[in-house]
Amino acid sequence: MAGAQARQRGGNAEDVSTERLAEIGLRYEVDGEIATITLDRPDKRNAQTFATWSALARIGENLPEQVRVVVVRGEGPSFSAGIDLRMFTPEGVPGQGSFSSAAARGGTDVEQRVKQAQAGFLWLRRPEIVSIAAVQGHAVGAGFQLALACDLRIVAEDAAFCMKEPALGLVPDLTGTKPLVELVGPARAIDICLTARTVYADEALRIGLAEKVVAGGDLEQAVRDKAAELLSTNRDAAIATKRLLQGARRRSLEEQCAAEGAAQAARLKALFG
Ligand code: CAA
Repeated sequence: MAGAQARQRGGNAEDVSTERLAEIGLRYEVDGEIATITLDRPDKRNAQTFATWSALARIGENLPEQVRVVVVRGEGPSFSAGIDLRMFTPEGVPGQGSFSSAAARGGTDVEQRVKQAQAGFLWLRRPEIVSIAAVQGHAVGAGFQLALACDLRIVAEDAAFCMKEPALGLVPDLTGTKPLVELVGPARAIDICLTARTVYADEALRIGLAEKVVAGGDLEQAVRDKAAELLSTNRDAAIATKRLLQGARRRSLEEQCAAEGAAQAARLKALFG
């Protein structure tokens, strides 16, 4: 089912029409309980623009309720080479302006634009879905952060993550710093970001950045298999469990135990009440 025909949660369906997405360099398909978002500008290594992020946000707003798994993938040799570097030129991307001219204007314009961009990433952590980044080749800057915005990362042997922002005089600002620290710890996150070094697939697996590494040709099937495993459990129990897991870090043990009890009472009531 194409995005435009999908059952809507709200928002403007026009914004996620297949034609509009193709102009931006995105594809969006919903097949039953699985939605697939493809960054589709392989000739530019799936570089991302403001339009990419606002379309991602619209996809999130319009995600059909039956969707339980969202796959984020990139067409071609790279997952994503990050922000479209034209956005740092005074001319910017046609029709979308530029960060450098927004910065020159001053005020809160840049912060507003960053917030809007972040909306394209944040919904991927919703409890109602599990998001999987299928990463091959380079995942640089905004590409790395898009992969970090997903719950799981299944990667090809040639995957290469790089948080390039500090090398460019910038900070990672597309929601990636928190999941990075949570996945690898503050010391490794400092090492990865402040050196802007590349983390290859074997290290990514070892330090918890990736759940699985497969041969490049097996990536699609590995993601399909994971989606099938995720769909094999009870939907409402999966949502309640993800809520519990997401809240675990900020709760004390006592609070977490209480949250488990409350969630289980709700499950038992739904099943037998
Ligand atoms: N923006 C715009 N165009 C890009 C691009 C980008 N980020 N990355 C690659 N391209 C374009 C290239 O200009 C080239 O276009 P032409 O064929 O028209 O010359 C095409 O894509 C192919 O690029 P390469 O030949 O370089 O491809 P490669 O496979 O040899 O290398 C790569 C891939 C290592 C990712 C390399 O392209 C690269 O280093 N790209 C730039 C990465 C980068 O600095 N990204 C920004 C990070 S910071 C960020 O995302 C967030 C932030 O600042 C807030």
